[in-house]
Amino acid sequence: MIRNGLNKCLQNKLFNNKLFYSSQAKPSRDSSYAIINNDDIEHFKTILDTHSILTDPSDIDGFNQDWMRKYKGNSNLVLKPKTTDQVSKILKYCNDKKIAVVPQGGNTGMVGGSVPVHDEIILSLSNMNKIEKFDPVTGVVVCQAGTVLETIENYLTPMGYTVPLDLGAKGSCQIGGNVSTNAGGIRLLRYGSLHGNVLGVEAVLADGTILDCLSTLRKDNTGYDLKQLFIGSEGTLGIVTKVSMITPPKPTSVNVGLFACQDFNQVKTVLSRAKSQLGDILSAFEFMDRPCIDLVLKHQQVQDPFQEKSPFYILLETSGFNETHDSEKLNNFLESIMAENLIIDGSLATDSKNISAFWKFRESITESLGKEGAVYKYDLSLPIEQFYSIVELMRAKFDDKANVVGFGHVGDGNLHLNISTPKKPYSKEIFDMIEPFVYEYTSEHRGSISAEHGVGLMKPDFLHYSKSNNSINLMKSIKNTMDPNNILNPYKVLPTK
Ligand code: FAD
Ligand code: MLT
Ligand code: ZN
Repeated sequence: MIRNGLNKCLQNKLFNNKLFYSSQAKPSRDSSYAIINNDDIEHFKTILDTHSILTDPSDIDGFNQDWMRKYKGNSNLVLKPKTTDQVSKILKYCNDKKIAVVPQGGNTGMVGGSVPVHDEIILSLSNMNKIEKFDPVTGVVVCQAGTVLETIENYLTPMGYTVPLDLGAKGSCQIGGNVSTNAGGIRLLRYGSLHGNVLGVEAVLADGTILDCLSTLRKDNTGYDLKQLFIGSEGTLGIVTKVSMITPPKPTSVNVGLFACQDFNQVKTVLSRAKSQLGDILSAFEFMDRPCIDLVLKHQQVQDPFQEKSPFYILLETSGFNETHDSEKLNNFLESIMAENLIIDGSLATDSKNISAFWKFRESITESLGKEGAVYKYDLSLPIEQFYSIVELMRAKFDDKANVVGFGHVGDGNLHLNISTPKKPYSKEIFDMIEPFVYEYTSEHRGSISAEHGVGLMKPDFLHYSKSNNSINLMKSIKNTMDPNNILNPYKVLPTK
């Protein structure tokens, strides 16, 4: 019996070591973390009601697994606090006992940051979902971190405002998760990043301290801007419990064009013309190659809007407040790019049904890829000159071994390079064909190995391709100051070496 038991442990260990989330193996469990016992659960019952404590494996399964079904943890406990005070009490206890915790929002992250690596407690923010305040003059909204992005949008729409952030996962992702990943999305081109739009954050530190940086001011230069530390730090420095954010007036006139181009040079020139000729009404400039369109046609109920296939497509959106002015500007722009032969085909949508249909092509690429099998995702910032070459290089490398596609927020210099194979699980052989090549290429061109998805569990060992040693060391010392017991989202973001 004992022999069998030992064998099982050994098997598990070997199995764990064989899991690859990148070309690097999954890190082993840090044995200095406590293992949850019944006393801990009894203690949590003094903080939360029993419905907010999940211990049944069938209830926990979905929390252990990420959206892509690539990362899987082994947690036995999910806590779902409703108040900041409860978050504070939970963290204080975990810090004292050295229990590791992973904060989880909508669990739509793409780099494995939101699920446990081993048996960390999952602290879900889903029950903290109230919109607390909105000022109709300044447009500042304050909400709890677990509020779903689309819920905020639906709340603001009747008041004539909109969230300055939009992404395909809006129906599930939460504002706290968006802030913690510094999510980019399709409106960044127009409204800028969350580093500018988030005015304040309330966060709970690892030792339970509640940090009130929940300012609603546009201007405040009183010392270090501490809220910025929580924007993009992926739950490693604190748990975001509330967010205040500036929201812009919702545009009343929206047009969307879907254009086909012969080569990537045309895409670049159309981008440059769109910036100069459309100016402030340009609200999105997205790009996808033909294999993306083929995937969407294969997996979604949509029809090809084009008669003939082209290698590249642009989705361009304008939004403003004066229909006549916007249409005139857009028509002049279209006339000029057609006169210059910069597009070979195109179609315009001006009513909401057709606009949604056009956006569906862009927004369902991720889901369609997921239906293919294993998807190897790379989210790169690259100079426009090198933007598409990496897709071609990878395509040549893989030949017919995998499907290589490129799409993304070209207006922001952000490429999503995705490589899919029909079969799961993820293969070390495929990872080794991509990494570190993709990161070396990105680094050579002074790009970023994570434009908007973050580092999570996927990229800590590759951080040096985008950050200097001095920067990484300073990050480590900030982490050490704010979370000396390293209980918050361990194994993620920072390299262990
Ligand atoms: P989660 O996935 O739950 O967590 C993400 C990270 O934040 C984890 O490290 C987690 O520990 C931490 N975290 C979550 N909540 C908190 C909190 N309250 N306090 C502290 N840490 C926390 N991303 C983009 O940037 N742009 C896109 O265009 C985009 N499109 C997407 C489209 C689809 C279809 C999908 C599935 C994902 C897309 N994403 C995109 C990725 C993802 O939606 C974003 O990263 C999003 O911001 C994650 O939010 P979430 O609430 O799901 O966070
Ligand atoms: C997107 O832009 O669609 C997202 O970042 C998701 C993805 O990269 O798949
Ligand atoms: Zn994206």
